[in-house]
Amino acid sequence: MSAAISWDPYNADLAKDPYPTYKRLREESPLYYNAEHDFYAISRFADVESTLRDKDLFSSAHGDILEFIKARSVMPDSVFIHQDPPKHTAYRALMQRIITPKRMHAVEQDIRKLCARSLDPLIGGDRLDFIANLGAEMPMRAVSMLLGIPEKDQEAIRQSVDDRIRTEAGKPIDIAAQQQLQQEALSGFDEYIAWREKNPSDDMMTELLQSEFKDPQGVTRKLTREEISNIVNVVAGAGNETTNRLIGWMGKTLSQHPDQRREVARNLALVPQTVEEVLRFEPPGPFVAREVMRDIELHGRKVPKGAVMLMLVAAANRDESRFVNGDSFNIHREARPHMTFGQGIHVCIGAPLARLEGRVALEEILKRFPDWEVDLDNAVLSSTSTVRGWDSLPAWIGSRPKNATVSIPKPAAAEAAPAPAAASGEVTLEGTWNVVVKGPTGPQPATLVLEKSGDTYTGSQSGQGSTTPIADFKLTGNKVYWVNHVTKPMKIKVEFTGELNGNVLSGKAKAGFMGSYPFTATKA
Ligand code: HEM
Repeated sequence: MSAAISWDPYNADLAKDPYPTYKRLREESPLYYNAEHDFYAISRFADVESTLRDKDLFSSAHGDILEFIKARSVMPDSVFIHQDPPKHTAYRALMQRIITPKRMHAVEQDIRKLCARSLDPLIGGDRLDFIANLGAEMPMRAVSMLLGIPEKDQEAIRQSVDDRIRTEAGKPIDIAAQQQLQQEALSGFDEYIAWREKNPSDDMMTELLQSEFKDPQGVTRKLTREEISNIVNVVAGAGNETTNRLIGWMGKTLSQHPDQRREVARNLALVPQTVEEVLRFEPPGPFVAREVMRDIELHGRKVPKGAVMLMLVAAANRDESRFVNGDSFNIHREARPHMTFGQGIHVCIGAPLARLEGRVALEEILKRFPDWEVDLDNAVLSSTSTVRGWDSLPAWIGSRPKNATVSIPKPAAAEAAPAPAAASGEVTLEGTWNVVVKGPTGPQPATLVLEKSGDTYTGSQSGQGSTTPIADFKLTGNKVYWVNHVTKPMKIKVEFTGELNGNVLSGKAKAGFMGSYPFTATKA
């Protein structure tokens, strides 16, 4: 007899491949109860679909995230993802008038340009990172273009959104910290909204400022500035991280299915169905949560009023009763709706934009790089309790070099360059390093470019949308030290102290008053 099933959404090991557990849940425990975290979970397609449609029995009044519901979180009415009717209906109806498919499709050419801007510099190279090079930036800029947010404010917004959803591996979200961050993020928009009020344009923000709607009390009026702030936060929050993860999953899945990738590269008309299959196969948001509003019985078991129910979208998407060979990736499978964008009154309002971004990103990737192989040894899977995906997904353009005994290929310049510090083996410090700082808000990617003249190292570090020269670089034995004066999203001096071991540079990054955080860097 097989052991009892345990499914823990905070288990980072399980998050690497949750699908065998999902299969067991569907088959053996279609109504699962987790005593440790006190929630129920459903995993069959029919159950997920019908519960998401039942807005009266399954409430979003305390949000759609496990921790928020357990904390009985209350949000302003205009945070409509976090509301039931009639509050939800009032704001959703307004948003449906404003976020139209037409408006979303209008930004296609700009999104294509953004992709080109990110991907063109990689042509001729041998590495790309689906997240650092595309996913971290493009979705944020796409939502921002839709809203009309100026480029200079865009990164700070993405950062504040990431901060709100990030969890430390194995731990639930800290609600108090999240709400504090939310408050800070909201206040940041006020200035911009005031400016746009005086400088109307044809963007969504202007429409938010000018449109009238019937509020939940039945009064016809314009939105207040605070309501606009909240709505912009909901849209940016729902649209950035999810689409970023979609780009990572496209990179990973198509690397592991090279025949299908080559077929799509030869025939770009297959891109939309490929994006759809990736969305089904690896949904960026694997589950949504609801509060159960009265005692119910499901699969012969009672679920009490007030319980939290997790709808396992990712499990439903592979339900064999709905999708033949659900655990296999097949771009030619019969087109059937999946649960990735939810269902019912809260169904994703930005799905057309997400699909468009996925399509444009994949077309632009395949046009330049029809072949790639992901470097999973150096990839970082993120651990949030709402979104599952890659924080870093490096890949070799073409195929993995035959002599790649370690996961990072030696830089081409290594043979000609002078030997580095004693303990560092064959790797030179000069060149480009992909740095990841495990900051208070989750992994922060950056790029460090080092040059050597005599015994002196100089260079620059890029991240958060800005590039600054590094200072005081020192190499003593295999010990390194440098300073990066970061300017975005805030001005802060970050001191890196670490060691070069093999081809990995690691240590601590001290970010002023914010404290010290581990960092790792690998040669690009
Ligand atoms: C692959 C990308 C995306 C995925 C997987 C995704 C998934 C979802 C899901 C599952 C929901 C329903 C949540 C619930 O039932 O509680 C949702 C709602 C929502 N999404 Fe998306 N989304 C994506 C992209 C976007 C984009 C690009 C935007 C913005 C332009 C967006 C805006 C929203 C909003 C505003 C809601 C709340 C709708 C409501 O409560 O009525 N999403 N999304």
